[in-house]
Amino acid sequence: MIEPALQLSSANLTELEYLALNSELNVADGHARQELSEAQQRIVEELPTLFEKAAAQPVEDLERAAHGAFLHLFGQHCYPSGRVLSCYASSVAMEILARSLVTETDAVALIHPTFDNIPDILRGVGLRLVPVEEDALHSGEPIPKGVGCVFVTTPNNPTGRVLSAERLAALADECRSRDVVLALDTSFRGFDTRAHYDHYAILESSGCRWVVIEDTGKLWPTLDLKVGLLLYSENVGLPIPRIYSDILLGVSPFILALVERFAEEAAGGGLADLHAFIAGGRRLVREALADLPGVTFLDPSSRVSVERVDLGDRRCADIWPELYERQVHALPCTQFYWADPSRGEHSLRIALARPYTALGAAVRELRSVLTEH
Ligand SMILES: Cc1ncc(COP(=O)(O)O)c(C=O)c1O
Repeated sequence: MIEPALQLSSANLTELEYLALNSELNVADGHARQELSEAQQRIVEELPTLFEKAAAQPVEDLERAAHGAFLHLFGQHCYPSGRVLSCYASSVAMEILARSLVTETDAVALIHPTFDNIPDILRGVGLRLVPVEEDALHSGEPIPKGVGCVFVTTPNNPTGRVLSAERLAALADECRSRDVVLALDTSFRGFDTRAHYDHYAILESSGCRWVVIEDTGKLWPTLDLKVGLLLYSENVGLPIPRIYSDILLGVSPFILALVERFAEEAAGGGLADLHAFIAGGRRLVREALADLPGVTFLDPSSRVSVERVDLGDRRCADIWPELYERQVHALPCTQFYWADPSRGEHSLRIALARPYTALGAAVRELRSVLTEH
């Protein structure tokens, strides 16, 4: 029997997500676990043909097609097609970036809060982290001194906040003038059209040294068949391709072909349907909990596939054993606040990329626990 209190206080977010994997009331991880749409189901029915196509075509062509279909879907027309490395997952891209950065700097300014595997990977290679509060980042405060890189998750996980085109341009200018690498994790970009302006046009024209991590893994229920993409500027001055080659040769051509098909389907209407689906899940959560005393929603304009719920006076640690008993798994926000976990003690993150029936059942259980506290 797993000891719930111990898990909550000592676990990282992914360890908590493991606990949830076998529960029907898993609203913990941010992976896409909704049902396939009819059009996506038809792609799955074509998988044997897709497999044959992937086996027959040169990998270079498959990569180019997958990258183009995915990035154009979100308006990223100016991405440098010769500088895109396909990775097994965005965490692998992150590891490659971290190992590259540590060859030239010992400190990174990192957005706060954000998903904890980003600070964990950066610290794992020995980098010192300096927190940059979201508000400071969005209001244009200067980046901290003494760092070799500024790392921004946009849209952010868990807050959903998006860096505007104006702020990206200003940040890129500042990074160029201070010779700091600007790194973005845009894993949740697909959910929010406000993040569909062409980031690469801005980055390339700024002349700054930049790296971007993109991710196909959060959008579509492809059973974690996904790729992370690592893109970088010509002047980045980091050994990224070399470290990539220390770790992998490349990703499965089959997955590249799958990404291309899902991206084409999304461009033909599937993306708008997905946005409506996530918005419906968010409404469901808010309507189910809104009248509970003390409960509020921290990110009113968020469009990403997770929702933060503030519990008022209640602490996550107080309700965790009961949620655990009912097999409801949501993430405490503590670990997202990697520099000051106490700031997340009173909020939970609920994953929305779930069938409405499962999401509704989890939220009903959560409501009943919160009512008792
Ligand atoms: C912003 C962000 N980047 C990267 C990752 C890592 O994704 P993966 O587990 O597919 O490597 C996550 C995971 O949820 C995330 O939220």
